[in-house]
Amino acid sequence: MPPGLHTEPGWPFPVRLDFNEIVAGAQTLFVVAALLFVLCLAACAITGEKKRYRAMAVSIAGLVLFGTIGWMALRPAIVDAYPTSFYVPTQPYAAPSIARGAPLYAANCAACHGVDGRGDGVLASRLPIRPADLTETHIFAHSVGDIFWWVSNGRANGVMPGFADKLTPDQRWDLINFVLARAAGSLTRATGSQVTTAAAPPLPDFAFEQHRAQNTLSQTLKTGPVLLILFAPPAHQARFEQLATLEPRLGAAGLRIIAVDLAQPTKITAVGAASAAPFVANVSDDVRATLALFRSATDGGETELMLDRGASVRVRWTTNGADGLADAATLLSDAVRVASIPVAAANHAGHAH
Ligand code: HEC
Repeated sequence: MPPGLHTEPGWPFPVRLDFNEIVAGAQTLFVVAALLFVLCLAACAITGEKKRYRAMAVSIAGLVLFGTIGWMALRPAIVDAYPTSFYVPTQPYAAPSIARGAPLYAANCAACHGVDGRGDGVLASRLPIRPADLTETHIFAHSVGDIFWWVSNGRANGVMPGFADKLTPDQRWDLINFVLARAAGSLTRATGSQVTTAAAPPLPDFAFEQHRAQNTLSQTLKTGPVLLILFAPPAHQARFEQLATLEPRLGAAGLRIIAVDLAQPTKITAVGAASAAPFVANVSDDVRATLALFRSATDGGETELMLDRGASVRVRWTTNGADGLADAATLLSDAVRVASIPVAAANHAGHAH
């Protein structure tokens, strides 16, 4: 697709290659087999040219052998593809889109996939195929374009209907952003109080007002990791005072704090907690609803998430978790560690036109 031409790139084949589907060992095996295959091909041509037929027969045997091995190693990487497989979302992976997607999900998908997306909707038991659990890692194994195709045209021989007639393309992308954010939130709960190398999928972008300035998560992450505090009233005065004292040192280590009150309407937050702790941010209801996906109701009042520069959660503490909330020394050392984590290229869910 020519850059700058904002038409979606259609995919003409029924299959595509996805190297994420094969394990690292098989990838190496494929590369080695492919190299040997090419060598045998060259040997075949040379021996044929020189009319050394015995050597040529050996080369042909090599071709068959390495061709077969290479094919077998590659086989799992050949996955089903659809015309929309390489589409990029028209709606960015951010709070406004996710907030629009949530009611669309409730109206169109919850009956089968369940209110929480676990595949246990009221209609689920009556279907010949069980609806997929939309909160597990495998949802991220598909390209967003593949998911767009299923939501548009249905799945499992029509057991899941298509929504192309009912929902506009933008609405379908909103829905997909919501499903991905909810899955990311649910997977994030598996992150513990030790810095993890296997991060959950990223948080969506959101806008907030802090220190009387407008900002977004993605802008803030450009300068370093973020400690995102999601809390419900009563505000945790002692914790906030501790963090307020610590903020300059954390800031020097490159860490920014953003605290969001998930229950309060914006105005009350502004007068109440914000005056006590300058890092408490004002957010819209859309942002509050989106971030609620990343807090567990049983956290004892507060969830603290340390995000790497790619917006993935690397450490997670809750008030009533096994280790409680982190102390000053842990926050400082974890901030340095998380800042040093190299971040992979932009996630496909994060890019939009
Ligand atoms: C009539 C029931 C039904 C409705 C309504 C429905 N689905 Fe499905 N969905 C299914 C079934 C059944 C499958 C197939 C599971 C399989 O192939 O193993 C499925 C599969 C999927 C998958 C593929 C998941 C995967 O990893 O393989 C996605 C994504 C999905 N549905 C999203 C949605 C969304 C979004 C909506 C709402 C717009 C929706 N579905 C509405 C029944 C339904």
